[in-house]
Amino acid sequence: MAAMVSPVLWCALLCCLYSVALGGKEHNFVVVPASSFEPEAACSTSVTSELPNRASVPLAHRHGPCVPSGASGKPSLAERLRRDRARANYIIRKASARTKTLSAGDASVPTFLGDSVDSLEYVVTLGIGTPPVQQTVLIDTGSDLSWVQCAPCNSAQCYPQKDPLFDPSKSSTFAPIPCSTDACKALSADSYDNGCTNATDGGASLCGYAIEYGNHAVTTGVYSTETLTLNAGVSVSNFSFGCGSNQHGPYDKFDGLLGLGGAPESLVSQTSSVYGGTFSYCLPPTSGSAGFLTLGAPSNSTADFLFTPMRHLSPELATFYVVTLTGISVGGTALDIPPAVFSKGMIIDSGTVITGLPKTAYAALRTAFQSAMSQYPLLPPSENGLDTCYNFTGNSSVTVPKVALTFSGGTTVDLSVPSGVLVEGCLAFRGESSDGSSGIIGNVNQRTLELLYDSGRGSVGFRSGAC
Ligand SMILES: *[C@@H]1O[C@H](CO)[C@@H](O)[C@H](O)[C@H]1NC(C)=O
Ligand SMILES: *[C@@H]1O[C@H](CO)[C@@H](O)[C@H](O)[C@H]1NC(C)=O
Ligand SMILES: *[C@@H]1O[C@H](CO)[C@@H](O)[C@H](O)[C@H]1NC(C)=O
Ligand SMILES: *[C@@H]1O[C@H](CO)[C@@H](O)[C@H](O)[C@H]1NC(C)=O
Ligand SMILES: *[C@@H]1O[C@H](CO)[C@@H](O)[C@H](O)[C@H]1NC(C)=O
Repeated sequence: MAAMVSPVLWCALLCCLYSVALGGKEHNFVVVPASSFEPEAACSTSVTSELPNRASVPLAHRHGPCVPSGASGKPSLAERLRRDRARANYIIRKASARTKTLSAGDASVPTFLGDSVDSLEYVVTLGIGTPPVQQTVLIDTGSDLSWVQCAPCNSAQCYPQKDPLFDPSKSSTFAPIPCSTDACKALSADSYDNGCTNATDGGASLCGYAIEYGNHAVTTGVYSTETLTLNAGVSVSNFSFGCGSNQHGPYDKFDGLLGLGGAPESLVSQTSSVYGGTFSYCLPPTSGSAGFLTLGAPSNSTADFLFTPMRHLSPELATFYVVTLTGISVGGTALDIPPAVFSKGMIIDSGTVITGLPKTAYAALRTAFQSAMSQYPLLPPSENGLDTCYNFTGNSSVTVPKVALTFSGGTTVDLSVPSGVLVEGCLAFRGESSDGSSGIIGNVNQRTLELLYDSGRGSVGFRSGAC
């Protein structure tokens, strides 16, 4: 009897040991087809990726095939990264100054007009006015005041855009905000004010707004209110936004911007009585698929989310959402990074592409990642500022280590592999020049996660595999 049973037992035991031994390796690396690194020609997601029973709109990559009014040509990775660097510099400078406006001395820092906006990569399409007119706008957690270009506007003052210009005269719900109102005066607290305009409405001078991105005014016009339609049955009435009459910059085609920051002018703050100051989005894994942007928390449960505390840099700078990173792991192994390196916090930004880590943290990540990927030829560092790029030519599949970020409270978030780790074959992280400033969690790392920004609870939640 014993002789008959033991081979079975042995086999079971051996199999078990074998899978434990292999398990570490298998679970900490992901084999992905090389086609994951190629751009998509068609949109694979149906346009209705809205969430049932939630105030949501589909979201897509600005240069991909899922944008309703047609994709504009995608700039090269080098150009996208140049814009991205300018945006990141702008955000870091603003964050370290802890103020909304940069002093005159900062103006000499070479930021290019519009770069911090032109680097934005994700758009949503929503309706504005009554009847609603479709507009495709960039989403931006790094600014607050939303705007669209408004008719009439000649080609010297407005850049060419995807859809016809929004024409306030054709909307029954449009109203310019008078200059004398509290709503107009409040703009100065966030440096979006621009005095009173010459234009009048029934004799009253109107409220001017101006938004400076990277210390250059890029949009000015009349602060106004309008009805915003997110999807059938969900609208936001009396939404304050900028009706833009003067926009300059090297833009490529989009109709405006939707500000999702934490200051009072943002869509999130304006709708807080209804949605609790909570919103979420999911950035899709590729530019050939769609994600979503949603106001409010899921109504049934947030049990699928992992949360970490969220704060703002200062009461005066409520725009940015800040979390604390405490550790990073590569291929299941925690990197040896002194926690003090992360003490200035990480700004989570929808508009920055590459994650900027404190210098010491990036050095540790780069070493571990390059070691885990040592079977693939590393490309020489290029002008785009990324130093961990691979040549996968000829490989039908690529084995990529998992990368996980651990946040305060012990919340560990596995990044999507490869979409959340690599961008066009390059590790989507870079090192800041020192350990002394805030870092930024860029949008590549955020792909496929639903990020739930909950200002009421003071937390950010992460849900894997959401789009
Ligand atoms: C506003 O009025 C002032 C003074 O009348 C004039 O100099 C200025 O050009 C006007 N601005 C616009 C935009 O019309
Ligand atoms: C609409 O918003 C403006 C500006 O915030 C405010 O002054 C006005 O009272 C609001 N109107 C309604 C009907 O809520
Ligand atoms: C909440 O509802 C969504 C959509 O109906 C569903 O997919 C999800 O599983 C639900 N979550 C829980 C925790 O019940
Ligand atoms: C990548 O590798 C292929 C084949 O090994 C080679 O022909 C090509 O020149 C390499 N590309 C770069 C950018 O180094
Ligand atoms: C593909 O990847 C392997 C490493 O796994 C490498 O040894 C090989 O040279 C690569 N290139 C080709 C053409 O297979």
